[in-house]
Amino acid sequence: MPARVAYTPDELDTALADARAHGRRIAFVPTMGAIHDGHLGLVETAREHGDLIVASVFVNPTQFGPGEDYERYPRDLGRDVELLGGAGVDIVFAPDVETVYPPGTEDVTVDPGPLGQVLEGVSRPTHFRGVLTVVAKLFAFVRPGAAVFGEKDYQQLVLVRRLARALHTGVDVVGRPIVRDGDGLAKSSRNAFLSDAERATALVLSRALHTGAAARSRGAEAVTAAARGVLAGADGVHLDYLALTDAELGEPAGGRAARLLVAARVGSTRLIDNLGFDLPDDPGTTPR
Ligand code: PAF
Repeated sequence: MPARVAYTPDELDTALADARAHGRRIAFVPTMGAIHDGHLGLVETAREHGDLIVASVFVNPTQFGPGEDYERYPRDLGRDVELLGGAGVDIVFAPDVETVYPPGTEDVTVDPGPLGQVLEGVSRPTHFRGVLTVVAKLFAFVRPGAAVFGEKDYQQLVLVRRLARALHTGVDVVGRPIVRDGDGLAKSSRNAFLSDAERATALVLSRALHTGAAARSRGAEAVTAAARGVLAGADGVHLDYLALTDAELGEPAGGRAARLLVAARVGSTRLIDNLGFDLPDDPGTTPR
């Protein structure tokens, strides 16, 4: 069934009136359009978390830094609506910039705190302020019961979970595990920019993460050393960061869930990837 398109908050409220009146749970998938398989996977997960699926298509200007590709970001609402509708989205919310950022309110933003300044935040210092600000606004428009975000953007997922808790949104923030190609490369729209040779080189990222995870029985330092060893031997990979954290992006600790995150440039394409696993209580024992 084709998705219904709401361009304004009033149209969205009208489209959702019946569902809200009958207490149907809304599952929400926020996107910036340019819909690809990754988004359709988020929709699949959304189906498990709601009776009705709303997806937003909004290219959010505030999460782009100077020199990033806001103006050139692909926009094709007709195609996006078709793909989202085909995947089972009921309503596509596609507001304009003035609706989301009413003139005179641009300086009212959500501060992600120090966690917004690490990892991705080092090279994109204003990015997560823009993301959290727009997500807070979209949650206010849609009022979903659940919202689905990909684990590929793990820092975004953690920050959105904190936002949902801090602002008492009542939204369950659901993470969708990373989908990988058969050879391990995390699926990303940016993979299309890789030449065949670069794509082969890019496999070193997931290999480093898995090699790091395989060293977890020897503790946190062994994990990062093993992953770094793999990356150090790779030609054509410009490492931005490799970091081991706990599941909330804090210091990793034995006996707890950990995340190993990597960002690197392969040719002119910047790629990110991450992997979750448990660290053992005592290095020397084998966790799951
Ligand atoms: O992950 C994205 O596509 C964007 O950061 C989001 C969550 C839609 C906010 O603009």
